[in-house]
Amino acid sequence: MTTPSLETSLTKLVGVRHPLVQTGMGWVAGPRLVSATAEAGALGILASATMSPEQLRSAVREVKSRTEAPFGVNLRADAGDADERVRIIVEEGVRVASFALAPSRELIARLKDAGVVVIPSIGARRHAEKVAAWGADAVVVQGGEGGGHTGEVATTVLLPQVVDAVDIPVVAAGGFFDGRGLVAALAYGAAGAAMGTRFLLTSDSTVPEAVKAKYLAAQVKDVTVTRAVDGLPHRMLRTDLVSSLENAGRARALARAARHAAGFRRLSGLSWSRMIRDGLAMRHGRELSWSQVLLAANTPMLLRASMVEGRTDLGVMASGQVAGVIEDLPSCAELVERVMAEAVEVLGRLSGH
Ligand SMILES: Cc1cc2nc3c(=O)[nH]c(=O)nc-3n(C[C@H](O)[C@H](O)[C@H](O)COP(=O)(O)O)c2cc1C
Repeated sequence: MTTPSLETSLTKLVGVRHPLVQTGMGWVAGPRLVSATAEAGALGILASATMSPEQLRSAVREVKSRTEAPFGVNLRADAGDADERVRIIVEEGVRVASFALAPSRELIARLKDAGVVVIPSIGARRHAEKVAAWGADAVVVQGGEGGGHTGEVATTVLLPQVVDAVDIPVVAAGGFFDGRGLVAALAYGAAGAAMGTRFLLTSDSTVPEAVKAKYLAAQVKDVTVTRAVDGLPHRMLRTDLVSSLENAGRARALARAARHAAGFRRLSGLSWSRMIRDGLAMRHGRELSWSQVLLAANTPMLLRASMVEGRTDLGVMASGQVAGVIEDLPSCAELVERVMAEAVEVLGRLSGH
């Protein structure tokens, strides 16, 4: 059976069969998940913030060895080595650059000159307006129900607000997991839907099975937002660790953050001077204290403990609210086919066919 497809401004812009995106998730969106998504006809995005530049290049090459379909790389616009990562993206012919924070006008221009499609992720209308004015090709807009760092405004309010504000394709994220959601996103004027948690919960994702089981067992009420990990609102599964982080005193939290920063430095191969430069970039334009910057270094290590090592007692499980309604682990191919078939069926029902 061939999977039904829907052409939108996103599929035309990127050259994928389906208006579906698998988002960049640290330690989760690696070559296996991204290539399986790409082979299924959706846009897979490699998460690079948790990779060194060398690891990024070899991950990109691994995806290219597994699929000829287009894919993307997610990076932090404020990383001290963003220039080097952009060079790798250009040299390796990656189709899409996705950004966790708004990239500068110069970075957007450099990528576009090299023929790379630029799709920043944003959580507020004014950020969408800014990157659109700077030449971004499309935006992913993430509502508050989404996993990982997140805002307060729900997708149902943020999405129409952004669609009305910009003339470039808008991809909806936060709370999507099925074909009904894709149709709802298209009805709001989006050009597609992006999903994080749903793709984490596939058989192609490398997250340890015991960790996936915790997500599958979660109810909607078990998904919470906390600032205890890095000072920024972060949506994740509520566990004993999250509660104890919330109850820990400031001194203990900082001591733990310093240990984790040292651990991340060893793993990522970053020098202390590079990490301090990244910290300065992170503070720039925001009201972050040095202690918050130090706490931010926690996030990659705490995510890694769960997503790679399976230690949910020592790590956090970033998650969208949809974890509470997801109950199975399809392959990416099965998931994409199912979502598209349901979307086409719903569209037919709505138009009386
Ligand atoms: C485990 C996990 C890790 C994430 N890591 C990142 C990341 O490194 N960079 C990023 O831009 N977004 C990250 N996110 C956010 C997702 O890319 C995406 O925007 C979000 O999951 C969408 O909401 P959904 O989970 O409801 O589909 C992460 C989300 C999860 C669940």
